[in-house]
Amino acid sequence: MSKIIKLPGLIDIHVHLRDPGQTYKEDFYSGTCAALAGGVTTVFDMPNNIEPIFSYKKLTEKMTIAGQKAVCDFGLYFGTDGKNTDEFSKVQKLVTGLKIYLNLTTGKYLVDDEKLVEKVFQTWPKDKVIIVHAEGDKIDLAIDLCRKYKNKLHITHVVTRNDLEKIMDAKLLKLSITCDVTPHHLFLTEKDLPYLDGFGEVKPSLASQSDADFLWDNLKFIDCIATDHAPHTLAEKKSFDPPSGMPGLETMLPLLLTAVSKNRISLEDIVRLTNINPQRIFGFKQEENTYVEVDTEEKYMIKGEELETKCGWSPYKGWKVKGKVKNVFIRGTKVFSEEKVLVTPGFGKNIPQ
Ligand code: DOR
Ligand code: ZN
Repeated sequence: MSKIIKLPGLIDIHVHLRDPGQTYKEDFYSGTCAALAGGVTTVFDMPNNIEPIFSYKKLTEKMTIAGQKAVCDFGLYFGTDGKNTDEFSKVQKLVTGLKIYLNLTTGKYLVDDEKLVEKVFQTWPKDKVIIVHAEGDKIDLAIDLCRKYKNKLHITHVVTRNDLEKIMDAKLLKLSITCDVTPHHLFLTEKDLPYLDGFGEVKPSLASQSDADFLWDNLKFIDCIATDHAPHTLAEKKSFDPPSGMPGLETMLPLLLTAVSKNRISLEDIVRLTNINPQRIFGFKQEENTYVEVDTEEKYMIKGEELETKCGWSPYKGWKVKGKVKNVFIRGTKVFSEEKVLVTPGFGKNIPQ
């Protein structure tokens, strides 16, 4: 039996495609092929490249590379160490938003000095998103600054009950605060760590079942689901000191459709979290005729080595899912079908800001 339904193309507001600098892990071609295979038609790429995107020059270099290689649409974030605020006026019209790391993660671009963090909130244009990696007390700091400077604040990859409760409270203050969760913090917990070993190493860390349940139970307070697709090679993940991050672009939609079949989430919520809210928060309009056809009845097993991502592994290896991406269309062109990408590098466009 098969049942084909149409969904608007997914917009993933948080990916790391590693290009330029670490193209042995991923690049704009392989990463956007992975996106299409997962029904994702637009990705927003993070600035923590090996040489971070902290200047107009680095940003425009990356934009050129993305424009030449991408097969799905894309947007780029600018990054900050708190000392590059002079660049903000030059880049603001070119990017989807500004990323600031208030906790340590891959690339070690943490901004620890609160004076610098404040300067960033003060300087970044108020109509463009500041997306923060903030956990625990750092969420309080971001919310305080948002209240003071009236920023458009988005808190990415919220994991714990405590952190989501802080955001739920802040939303009551009618500030412009939104948040997302990742599939891995919904579908994996610290109980999976023994078998995942280095493959389960991610920032923020996998949490308890009760934290994951709290996210599931409070989806109405969550604005987006974003993958935080963060590929590292098999060898790196098997090493003594594995880097943090896991791929997610190709597995997000099948996992969510499987959850629909178990009545854990509705299709309407999937559309709200992966399409409507990303457009609303980032203030852009997805182009016409950009959609995905999925078979909600087709069952298959996730296999790492068959994925489009260069890293060739998945933390969900061996999981049986129900819901398969069949065809993907962008701007009326069929871009993916029969497990194959049908367009050439450069088809993807930078979304208008
Ligand atoms: O686990 C993570 N990996 N979390 C992040 O926030 C960054 C990412 C990466 O770039 O590898
Ligand atoms: Zn990330």
